[in-house]
Amino acid sequence: MGRPCLPSEFLSSPQACPDLHRMCTAISALPLARIAVAGAESIHVMKVAAEVCPFCEGTGWKSVANGSDRRVTRCDCRVQARSEALLKAARIPKRYEHCELSNFDYEGPHQALFPARMAACKFVEEYPVDNTGLLLIGTIGVGKTHLAVGIIKELILSKGIGCLFYDYRELLKEIQNSYNESVRATELEVLRPVFETEILVLDELGAVKPTEWVWDTVSLILNTRYNDNRTTIITTNFDDKPAGAIGGPRGAARDETLGDRIGERMRSRLHEMCRIIKMEGRDFRQIRSASFR
Ligand SMILES: Nc1ncnc2c1ncn2[C@@H]1O[C@H](COP(=O)(O)OP(=O)(O)OP(=O)(O)O)[C@@H](O)[C@H]1O
Ligand SMILES: [Mg+2]
Ligand SMILES: [Zn+2]
Repeated sequence: MGRPCLPSEFLSSPQACPDLHRMCTAISALPLARIAVAGAESIHVMKVAAEVCPFCEGTGWKSVANGSDRRVTRCDCRVQARSEALLKAARIPKRYEHCELSNFDYEGPHQALFPARMAACKFVEEYPVDNTGLLLIGTIGVGKTHLAVGIIKELILSKGIGCLFYDYRELLKEIQNSYNESVRATELEVLRPVFETEILVLDELGAVKPTEWVWDTVSLILNTRYNDNRTTIITTNFDDKPAGAIGGPRGAARDETLGDRIGERMRSRLHEMCRIIKMEGRDFRQIRSASFR
């Protein structure tokens, strides 16, 4: 047995991943054998394939020469098809579709965001060798969701890694809905992709008023991913402080801490799962609306 395939190797030369290559050549050997005996029909099949992609004639593999060395590599048409499928599966909301690492400002008036942008790029570069997650903490509109989406888009496009975006409030609502008998999805059907995706973005952690059920559900999600050694990227507006650490009148969400909202046990679990990135700066939404005035 060769070593197991890294997900990123689905996009590179099959020589880097002998098991995958064997699998693919075995699959493509079957239609080729059929072509050999099917006569006129085979010509038709090849013609259709050639119309599909002029570089690989529909096989998905193309030959690349480097001096006397010839290699077979994934054709760009397949790489692109896979990236598009992964992007669709990631469920990035329309509102954040424009978010990329390349259009995240971190210069001039936004230079306080430079370390966060650096950490995001380092994460993309080092994943999966270092698969520690990220906990992006900052005030409203500072760019936490933009950065998180930028990271998963880059991982999808450059490394072919499966990612999933979920707003924390949406996720809890979907799980709650699944208890309703008229809804077809079961709780496990909602949670399975959340448990199993290679990288999960959980946006706005703590944004739902904590109850016993909320705490149990967050614990289930985070503990399952922790036990399976999967990577989670989290954004939150709440200070990474223990429960009850901020004094003053209670009730105002801004006076609460992450410990108050998800419980101390889960806050401590997050410290094991994630590297903490503090983001400071102005609210980009306000900057934008001021510039339109
Ligand atoms: N550094 C940045 N460069 C360019 N655009 C940015 C940057 N930061 C934020 N934006 C834009 O500003 C808007 C708000 O950013 P975003 O939603 O990421 O903030 P947030 O910190 O997640 O806010 P919230 O706490 O409300 O969730 C988005 O449209 C985003 O694309
Ligand atoms: Mg956000
Ligand atoms: Zn092709």
